[in-house]
Amino acid sequence: MDPPADVGDLTELLRDGGYLADRGLATALFVALRLGRPILLEGEVGVGKTEVAKALAEVFARRLIRLQCYEGIDTSQALYEWDYARQMLQIRALSGPAAGSGQPFDEDAAVDRLFGPKFLLERPLLEAVRAGDEAVLLIDEIDRADDEFEAFLLEVLSDFQITIPEIGTIRAERPPLVVLTSNRTRELHDALKRRCLYHWVGYPCAEREIEIVLTRVPGVSETLAAKVVAAVQRLRELELNKPPGVAETIDWVRSLEVVGATEVDERTAEDTLGSIVKERDDLEVVRENLDQVISLA
Ligand SMILES: Nc1ncnc2c1ncn2[C@@H]1O[C@H](COP(=O)(O)OP(=O)(O)O)[C@@H](O)[C@H]1O
Ligand SMILES: [Mg+2]
Repeated sequence: MDPPADVGDLTELLRDGGYLADRGLATALFVALRLGRPILLEGEVGVGKTEVAKALAEVFARRLIRLQCYEGIDTSQALYEWDYARQMLQIRALSGPAAGSGQPFDEDAAVDRLFGPKFLLERPLLEAVRAGDEAVLLIDEIDRADDEFEAFLLEVLSDFQITIPEIGTIRAERPPLVVLTSNRTRELHDALKRRCLYHWVGYPCAEREIEIVLTRVPGVSETLAAKVVAAVQRLRELELNKPPGVAETIDWVRSLEVVGATEVDERTAEDTLGSIVKERDDLEVVRENLDQVISLA
């Protein structure tokens, strides 16, 4: 597929893929695509960071390769591992009673075979280096990984080259599009930020959020969508521990639809709060302010 000609073109493409990007995000993505640089998207939970990587893969018909980060993730889980179980089976086969073929046992050859491509389990980074520009590599929630892992990632992102001692060096001629996301539970290092283009993804404005709801919940009435969005935007001002993201807005609309509500009033809101407020302390704050939240809707 042809690369997008300009920012407007990319915005349209993403829209066709069900993703509504504002001008800032679309521009950042366009530049990342053009310059072949990784892009780091930071923002609150549920603002559409992960989703945009999926949408990019879809509209460019590229494979989405996802590396989900978590506390304690290490390099082998990101790069490759040896398939120990299969290696053990192979060793048994080699040394078992049926193995005596009369030929002398060549230990080096056996080891070579055990550490060959057949026994290699590719993990996302190796997969992405192999796939090159046929893939979108999503490195999701990098803030959950520790410092060491971040440093290691920086190395991989610098040269898109992975050396497996037993096999050799694998290099991406044309690197994949790399999207990193962070929910900002901690600061990332300057070095990593310097390597990437950066964009802060904020909550969408009401108008855009209504549009997102209409795209994601086909058939929903525009009035209900607008009311829910107004209430959610107000909820975000309440300093909750877990402010509702766009996913929660969508969930809320769906829940209201399921219970047959056409309005957001105090009763229907109370009945369906579980789809939007997910913490006990937050629930109390919301209940205290519910009339005010609803009055705006
Ligand atoms: N701009 C957008 N266009 C379409 N859908 C969106 C948009 N932003 C958020 N969403 C919806 O919100 C959900 C949550 O977004 P997600 O990417 O998981 O958030 P994050 O990764 O930032 O925590 C997505 O599954 C998608 O349905
Ligand atoms: Mg995410």
